[in-house]
Order: sequence, then C-alpha cells, then structure tokens
Amino acid sequence: MKITVVGAGNVGATAAQRIAEKELANEVVLVDVVDGIPQGKGLDMWESAPVERFDSKLIGTTTYEATEGSDVVVITAGLARKPGMSRDDLLYKNAEIVGSVTENIAKYSPKAIIIVVSNPLDAMTYVAFNKSGFPKERVMGMAGVLDSARFRSFIAEELKVSTRDVNAMVLGGHGDDMVPLPRFSTVAGIPITELMDKETIDRLVDRTRKGGIEIVNYLKTGSAYYAPSASAVEMVESIVKDQKRILPCAVLLDGQYGINNLFVGVPVKLGKAGIEQVLELKLSAAELAELKLSAEHVKENCDKLA
Ligand code: NAI
Ligand code: 2OP
Repeated sequence: MKITVVGAGNVGATAAQRIAEKELANEVVLVDVVDGIPQGKGLDMWESAPVERFDSKLIGTTTYEATEGSDVVVITAGLARKPGMSRDDLLYKNAEIVGSVTENIAKYSPKAIIIVVSNPLDAMTYVAFNKSGFPKERVMGMAGVLDSARFRSFIAEELKVSTRDVNAMVLGGHGDDMVPLPRFSTVAGIPITELMDKETIDRLVDRTRKGGIEIVNYLKTGSAYYAPSASAVEMVESIVKDQKRILPCAVLLDGQYGINNLFVGVPVKLGKAGIEQVLELKLSAAELAELKLSAEHVKENCDKLA
C-alpha cells in the first residue's frame, strides 16, 4: 500500500503523520511545491518512527516521480482561510492548484483513489474529478466527517457523555449552509431530538455550521488542521482496510436526493473500491429543502469555474 499526500502544510503534514503512525501504508509520500518543506517534514516524521514504533517509510519531495503507483492520494494543496475570508474566496487560485496537482496524480497513479481536502471542498472535488478522468467511485471530498465530528464533540460536551457514544450526520456542501441532521444524530442510538430541547439543538447546529471560522478566528494565520487531518485519515483507513464504513463524503450525485452532476456530502460506504454505495436517507421535506439549497451553493461555485 502506498499513500501520497499532496500539500505539506498544516493539514497535509498532520495527515501524513497520522497515516504513518497508524501504519496504513508501507510508503507515505509527502509532496509540496516549496522546496525543502516536504523533504524536511518527511525526514523529521521518519525519524520519529523508532520512538512511535511504526515502519511506514515516509519521504518528502517536490516532484511526482516518487508518487508513482500510489493507491490513495489525499490532496490538501492550496491556500487556507485567514480571518475575514470565506472558503469561497479560495475558489479560483485553488482550482488552478488542485487542477495541476490532479494532472500529475492521474499521470503517475492512474489507479489511485483521490480524496480532496482543499477548499472550497465540493467545487475542488469536481475539479479533481474532471481533471483526472477517473470514474466517480474513485474521487471524493472530505468535509462531512469533519463537520459531523464537530457536531459530535459539541453534543458530547453538552450532554456530558463520552464522545465514543455519539454519532452524527452532517450532509450538504462544506459551507455555512451545510445540513446537520439532528434526527440522524444519536447518543447510544437515541436521537438527540429526545435528549435536548430545540433551542439547545439549534445552538449546537449553528456552532457546527460556524465550526471552521471559530478556529480561524482563534488561529488568525490559518485554519483548522487536527480535526481535518483526523477526518481525512478516517476515510483513508476505511479504504485501505476495506472497512466499509458509512461516512458522509462529498461524492458525485446522479439523481440521488434529486441532485444531479454535483459533488455534495451524503452518507456513503467506503471500501477498497472507493465509494461502494451511496445511501439515501429518508429525509423530511424541510431537510431535503436544506440539502438542495446547499447543493445550489455548490453549483454556483462550479458554474463560476465552468
Ligand atoms: P497550508 O497553507 O498549511 O498548506 C497548504 C500547502 O499547499 C502549502 O504547504 C503550500 O505550499 C502547498 N501548495 C500550494 N500549491 C501547491 C501545489 N501546486 N502543489 C503542491 N503543494 C502546493 O493549508 P492547510 O491548513 O494545510 O489547508 C490546506 C487546504 O485544505 C486549504 O485549502 C484549506 O482551506 C483546506 N481545508 C479543508 C478542510 C475540509 O474540511 N475540507 C478542512 C481544513 C482545511
Ligand atoms: C474548516 O472547516 C477550513 O474548511 C475548513 O475548518
């Protein structure tokens, strides 16, 4: 198993480290355009192997030869948000970056499964899909796992229960109009709608929607990366171990939820073939309307790039 992470910044480097520490691959390749950064970070992480006790070999590089034959590629290359910026402000520059990265990935690793992390997520996943020419089962975006993790952590904190017993589902585009679904969010199987009043749930939903900017406002020089890297690696792990986890991921819809030809976050089964099934939840009219509104926003971004 060989895994490439493109972008050796905050999310990419942390993801590479998590992948190596979990020994999800024999080889982990970290790529960046800034000479010295991927080499230095790759070597530094490799030198932690004897202490952390892993044998995944890490290397860093600025060229794509060493990525040849990767099974999974995580794309984190691009600009990150600063205070006052929305994810959409990154659209044009990151489309250029993700496009050129994808061309190199498709050239050297034609059988890879691509997980896009760069923002604006849903539009960037579409760019990677178009540029790679890969089947839709092998191109997906990471956002729902992160947004759900945020919702889960807020629910656990509010109810003073273990995060282990909390599940949550957040659908839609990775923007302010993402769709946290309280009816499908549970504590030990009990929907949170039976455990909290509406006002409390609304507060947690709002905090989830604004979860990204909450971190940006603290950090000031960049955006979140511990929870994002953990979320991307959870998807990697489900693929490389063929775990068939059901996780919300941005995937190309062709009619599901009444949405066509757009990458939008919905629950899918992730295994060694990539996206092995798209699950269609029985949404209420209000939930479906919210999902369609979020998809409209994704479409606006994709149309700007057309
Ligand atoms: P960062 O600025 O720390 O790292 C980005 C890295 O990409 C830099 O090292 C930069 O040199 C590199 N890069 C730029 N152009 C490149 C190219 N053509 N080829 C290879 N590398 C290139 O940013 P961070 O925090 O790692 O975030 C990365 C991206 O992920 C941003 O677009 C951010 O908005 C997005 N993000 C998305 C999340 C999600 O839920 N989907 C969560 C967190 C971040
Ligand atoms: C986040 O949600 C910036 O999209 C990134 O933290």
